[in-house]
Amino acid sequence: MKKLAIDGGDKAIISPLPTFRDASGRSLGSEEIEQLKEVIESGSLSFLSGSKTGEFERKFATLYGVKTAVSVSSGTASLHTAVSYLNPEPGDEILVSPITDMGSIIPILAQLAVPVFVDVDPETQNMDAAKLEAAITSRTKAIIVTHIYGNPADMDAIMEVANRHNLFVIEDCAQAHLATYKGRLCGTIGHVGCFSFQQSKHMTTGDGGMVISNEDNRFGRELRQCSDKGWPRNKGGRDHLFLALNYHMTELQAAVGIAQLHKLQKMVDARRSSAFKLTELLEGSRVTPTKILPATTATFFFYTFRINPEDISVSTADFVKALVAEGIDCFLGYPGKMPLYRYPVIKDALTFGSSGFPYSLPGVENGARHRQPSCPEAEKACVETVCIWWNECLTREHVEQIAAAIRKVRSAYAR
Ligand SMILES: Cc1ncc(COP(=O)(O)O)c(C=O)c1O
Repeated sequence: MKKLAIDGGDKAIISPLPTFRDASGRSLGSEEIEQLKEVIESGSLSFLSGSKTGEFERKFATLYGVKTAVSVSSGTASLHTAVSYLNPEPGDEILVSPITDMGSIIPILAQLAVPVFVDVDPETQNMDAAKLEAAITSRTKAIIVTHIYGNPADMDAIMEVANRHNLFVIEDCAQAHLATYKGRLCGTIGHVGCFSFQQSKHMTTGDGGMVISNEDNRFGRELRQCSDKGWPRNKGGRDHLFLALNYHMTELQAAVGIAQLHKLQKMVDARRSSAFKLTELLEGSRVTPTKILPATTATFFFYTFRINPEDISVSTADFVKALVAEGIDCFLGYPGKMPLYRYPVIKDALTFGSSGFPYSLPGVENGARHRQPSCPEAEKACVETVCIWWNECLTREHVEQIAAAIRKVRSAYAR
């Protein structure tokens, strides 16, 4: 048996793998530079006088086949724009998964609504539609569905419950660009779709986001106004109809976004084919890749798998340390070693001054159901899931080395 790199043996991965952190794992080049040059030479860095933001939005809307696309400064901003569009009453409840980025939760709290956590399906790690119904109360207004790891959630089951209870559905596609569910693009199945273009995402503008929808005035406010200070600019003049932040994307980001959008399908296809290759190479190695539902196209933000803790002689944390030593860019548990409700912002209600809002608002249940919910599957997933950072530049040779590294560590630690 080969000596593990963590014990002083040779690394299974000979030279560093491409990473999303720099040019090695990103497709940024002359197209982006050309677009940026145009913006700089125009002297217009803002949507107010430039044309790139509008162009990026139109192209994104066309790709997704939707009426409205609003570009914003981050994925968190896109979700806040969607929650602001819904305009919940303070204390209203929004159902979310505990396995997502805090950027899915912050917008709920920022709008003084209450995130209510619904446990995940152990195999897909997406919100478990069968557990939705039990979490609904008279105060429930919406569901934020994250397609975790680029892996589409069970939208038919979720929409069935949502429609029956008249709930608004926001799809968080920050990790799921061009993912599809039964032939439909994720982000177009619910009422609003939200995207992130942060550095690690399938396409990037450094930071950035997009909100898409086929509707634009359901709750008495337009989607675009919700990221633009409540300003109805199409009417001319200055006005501010309601409380909303400024989440504009700059022309510089939009310029990069246009160039990235042209490459998006290719980049997603590359992520998919290398991920499926890894799954094939891991067959028989007794690791379990996260389940992908039939009739879906998963687009692999991370490559994730689990190992039965009873099958290995070390903790999963030590298993991950050994993989890192072999040269794999991976970590244990997403969004960390614990679900989101265990972080101080929720656990200790560290929100607005010392008020504890929205938890302390009259009529809001300020206790275990909201702040220490029981989500045993999410708890387990966080300490058992190995997450490998993925990108479009991983070749077949890289994947073969990753598979060899996993097999090497797996057999060294076999029980
Ligand atoms: C599922 C999910 N939702 C929301 C966000 C927030 O996006 P951003 O970091 O661009 O604000 C992220 C970013 O990692 C994410 O992965």
